[in-house]
Amino acid sequence: MTMYEKAVAALPTKGYLNIEIPQGINLLEEINRLRKEKNAIILAHYYQTGDVQDIADFLGDSLQLARAAEKTDADMIVFCGVHFMAETAKILNPTKKVVLPDLLAGCSLADSASGEGIRELKKKHPNAIVVSYINCDSSVKAESDIIVTSSNAEHIINSLPEEQEIIFAPDRNLGRYINQVTNRNMILWDGACIVHEAFSLERIAQQMIDNPKAKLIAHPEAQKPVLQVANHIGSTANLLNYVVNDDCQEFIVATEEGILHEMRKRAPHKKLIPALTTDNSCNCSECHFMKLNTMEKLYLCMKYELPEITMDEDIRLKALKPINKMLELSQTIK
Ligand code: 13P
Ligand code: SF4
Repeated sequence: MTMYEKAVAALPTKGYLNIEIPQGINLLEEINRLRKEKNAIILAHYYQTGDVQDIADFLGDSLQLARAAEKTDADMIVFCGVHFMAETAKILNPTKKVVLPDLLAGCSLADSASGEGIRELKKKHPNAIVVSYINCDSSVKAESDIIVTSSNAEHIINSLPEEQEIIFAPDRNLGRYINQVTNRNMILWDGACIVHEAFSLERIAQQMIDNPKAKLIAHPEAQKPVLQVANHIGSTANLLNYVVNDDCQEFIVATEEGILHEMRKRAPHKKLIPALTTDNSCNCSECHFMKLNTMEKLYLCMKYELPEITMDEDIRLKALKPINKMLELSQTIK
């Protein structure tokens, strides 16, 4: 076996092509060359590391990235995010090659639910429709009626008849928050984001005392006690816009720390304080799944066009329907 064949065989367990990169190579130049040569587009989520965000053609939250993936005419979509996001890109734009720098870039929320589990829950609530957060795999999407993201969940739930019974999967925190703001009683799947659940109310309260002028802003994937004391709650893109446009000069930010990179760029004079977590050793809320993508892996995946996202056509078509429904119902949302 050649070194390349060995690396390809190890891909499912390793997650990326473990091939040595020649010393002295300029990764930025090489990625730019490959992007042109292969007519590729690099899409990155705000939770990627700063260097990956900076090299992207398009940077966005889940909703913005899904739209960008759908409309691109590039031949290859290089998705710097997590697996369910790259999968969504493939569902929306199946003729394109979709690659993900590290196949093991997963998500605790997506891991918490399965298509089979949703089918079982549907049997118990035969009149309910299933609304799923985009943070789920294609088997869950295929069992769903509508997909939502944190940017459009409230808007979409509000557009449904009040008497409609709804199963909401897989994020219990987002579900509870949407229940509260839309005055619903959706049946909630018991999943959670390990990053947003790590915030410590006690330590955040101390941060608020130490920074009395700061506003606390939080993502709705955070737990109820944190949301209850937050001055503003919003999706990743919403929190970014809030920091840029609000008069306040100081913010305690209770979401994944990667977003601070773009916040600092767009609001360089404002003081941004990452909210503290229960983990004393780390303190900040990094999504280790998101951070599996590095510049080296990005380069390798563009060069060898691996790991590639593939999926069963039957599942893809079933998963496409609720995603299209979301895009149709959220045209007014930026
Ligand atoms: P949004 O990009 O929709 O805010 O989602 C946050 C998140 O946790 C992505 O994994
Ligand atoms: Fe999943 Fe949370 Fe990481 Fe987003 S931040 S990818 S929801 S684990």
